[in-house]
Amino acid sequence: MTETIRVGLGNRSYPITIGDKAWSGLLPLLEKNPFTSSITVIDERVNALYGERFFGLTDKIDKPSFRFIHPEGEQSKSFSCLESLCRDMARNGMDRESMVFALGGGVVGDLAGLAASVYLRGVRLIQLPTTLLSMVDSSVGGKTGINISEGKNLVGTFYQPEAVFADISVLGTLDGRDWYSGLAEVLKIALALDAGLFEYLESVGDLGPAGDLDVTRTVVAACRQKARIVELDEKEAGLRKALNFGHTLGHGVEASLGYGVLRHGEAVLLGMRAALILSTRMCGLPSDQFQRAINLLDRIPLPDVELPHDLNRFVIKDKKSLGNRITGVFIKEIGKHEFVSLDDPSVLVEALKAE
Ligand SMILES: NC(=O)c1ccc[n+]([C@@H]2O[C@H](COP(=O)([O-])OP(=O)(O)OC[C@H]3O[C@@H](n4cnc5c(N)ncnc54)[C@H](O)[C@@H]3O)[C@@H](O)[C@H]2O)c1
Repeated sequence: MTETIRVGLGNRSYPITIGDKAWSGLLPLLEKNPFTSSITVIDERVNALYGERFFGLTDKIDKPSFRFIHPEGEQSKSFSCLESLCRDMARNGMDRESMVFALGGGVVGDLAGLAASVYLRGVRLIQLPTTLLSMVDSSVGGKTGINISEGKNLVGTFYQPEAVFADISVLGTLDGRDWYSGLAEVLKIALALDAGLFEYLESVGDLGPAGDLDVTRTVVAACRQKARIVELDEKEAGLRKALNFGHTLGHGVEASLGYGVLRHGEAVLLGMRAALILSTRMCGLPSDQFQRAINLLDRIPLPDVELPHDLNRFVIKDKKSLGNRITGVFIKEIGKHEFVSLDDPSVLVEALKAE
C-alpha cells in the first residue's frame, strides 16, 4: 500500500509518498522534472545496506550522478562535513538545476538539506528518509541544520524539499535504539496534537521493531499532522512550536552530554517526562491522563544516563529561547498542547531531577 500526503505551500507544495515500495515513485517524478546532475548524500551504514538498491534506480537516469558518503552519526552534522559536501558539489560542477538526494536518517536529511539550501543559494532537494524518526518528522517541513559546540541545530535554514519518499521496507534493518528513538517522536506528535494517534499507540501490544505496530498507518498519521502544522506555520512563528514538545530540555540534554551519547528521541523522552510533570502543575493536565502518558512513555526503553550538573546552561542556549525566556510546550490534555512563557527555564531541569 502506498499513500501520498500533500504539504500545501503554494508553488512550493510537495508530495510525501509513504509505503512499502515508495522509492518506485522517484523515477516518474524525475522524468517530469528534469535536472542536470545529482549528488546523493548518504552515511556509511545506509550506503552499505541500501546504496546498491538506490543507485540501481538513479543509474537508470542518463545524468551525471555523484555520491557523498560520510560517517554515520550526529558528529556529521558539523561545519567541516558541510564544507566537504559543498566543495564536492562545486568540484563536480553542480549547477542551479542540480538535485540533492538526502538518503538516510535525520542526520543525512539535516546536513544535505542545509547544503542544498546554501550551495549556489539553493539547489533542488529530495528527501528519502530511512529511519522511523526521519519518516515521521525530520524529512518533512524543511528544517535543516548542523550542531556547534554551543548548541544543537544552532546553524540551519528553512528549505523545503521537492518531494519526500518514505520507503517503509527499509526499516527492518534499524537498530532497536533507533527504532525507539523514532517512536519517541511519534509519541510527541500524539501527545501534543493527536489524541487518536495516542489511543492507537496505547492499543498496540508490542511496540518493538518487529512488533505489532502498523508502520505505514503510523507514519501516515504523523506526516498528516506535520504537514498540517507546516502549512499553517512554516517558519515556526507560533503553532509549529507545538512540535517542540519535549525538545527544549531534550536538546539541552543532547548538547550537555555530548552529541551522539543519547539518540535524539531518547533525549526527547526525558524532555517529555519533564514537560508532562509541568503540564500537571501549569496546565491542569488531569492525573489519569498524566498517568496514561507516563505509562506509554515507560514502554519505550531508555539507557541509564547521569544528567550533567550544568544542564541548565545548555537549556538556556537552546535556539528556542528569546533572551532567557523560553516558550514552554505543555499539554492540557492528551493531544492538546498549550504554550507557557517561562522566565525561568530551569524549572524544566528541576522537574526532571525531582522525579
Ligand atoms: N529537521 C527536523 O525537523 C528534525 C526533526 C527531528 C529530528 N531531527 C534531527 O534528526 C537527527 C536524528 O535522526 P535519526 O534518528 O534518523 O538519526 P541518524 O540519521 O543518525 O540515524 C540513526 C542511525 O540509523 C542508521 N540508519 C539509517 N537508516 C537505516 C536503516 N534503514 N537501517 C539500518 N540503519 C539505518 C544510521 O546510519 C545511523 O547510524 C538529529 O540530528 C535531530 O536533530 C531533525
